[in-house]
Amino acid sequence: MEKLIIGNLKMNLLPNDTMEYVEKLSTAKSNSVGVALPYTSLIVACDELHKRGFMLGAQNMFYEENGAYTGEVSAEMLRQCGCDFCLVGHSERRQKFNESNKFINKKIKSLLKHGIRVVLCVGENANERDLGKTKEVLTKQIEDALAGLYENELMSIIIAYEPMWAIGSGKTPTTKQVASVAQFIRKIINNNFSDKAGESIVLLYGGSVKKDNAKKFLQVAGIDGALIGGASNNASDFVELIDLV
Ligand code: PGA
Repeated sequence: MEKLIIGNLKMNLLPNDTMEYVEKLSTAKSNSVGVALPYTSLIVACDELHKRGFMLGAQNMFYEENGAYTGEVSAEMLRQCGCDFCLVGHSERRQKFNESNKFINKKIKSLLKHGIRVVLCVGENANERDLGKTKEVLTKQIEDALAGLYENELMSIIIAYEPMWAIGSGKTPTTKQVASVAQFIRKIINNNFSDKAGESIVLLYGGSVKKDNAKKFLQVAGIDGALIGGASNNASDFVELIDLV
């Protein structure tokens, strides 16, 4: 299976620069590419990305259908902007906006209801890693986020393992550590759903993936793709990375 590469533009990319970014990205050879864009770029990018068979994603949403939630964007709003997927539980949202696992679970349910795939980001921070709590943290994050879901809904869930200490830091775990976490995440899914679900869930690695290390992480057993932040900011560089793998 072709590896899935998802870019996370974070709070970068202006509406005026979006078309140029997408046109450059469209020259990538792979067909298995998605980009999570700022809300303000979604409608601009939608048609061109879909023409190329790429997936369009958002970086956040709120779980209510509508109402007095100033500044929030619902799943249906994203769907009507052409979103195929949405990031949920990114560490920057957990850390800077205090998002809890319970809150994340509500978002996931709303996205699934509206037919939008979920990229659920999980990962331990440096302190938790040093205390040997990685497995405990991942189990809680995944079990709480997926609580109440039916097994068939897992087809619409992608899990991205992003150790918090690796995001934007240039530091990365070893491939052996990533392989062991991938195996562990599949085991969590086995225990909570079924062996089949554990085998087939799509797993990404994210955290300081660049041109010079992307191939290495994509070859790790049990890893189906990568979630890429900083290295997706420049479309030409991002295309080079995609074409390498
Ligand atoms: P990074 O970010 O590639 O810049 O480390 C990854 C992410 O935040 O998803």
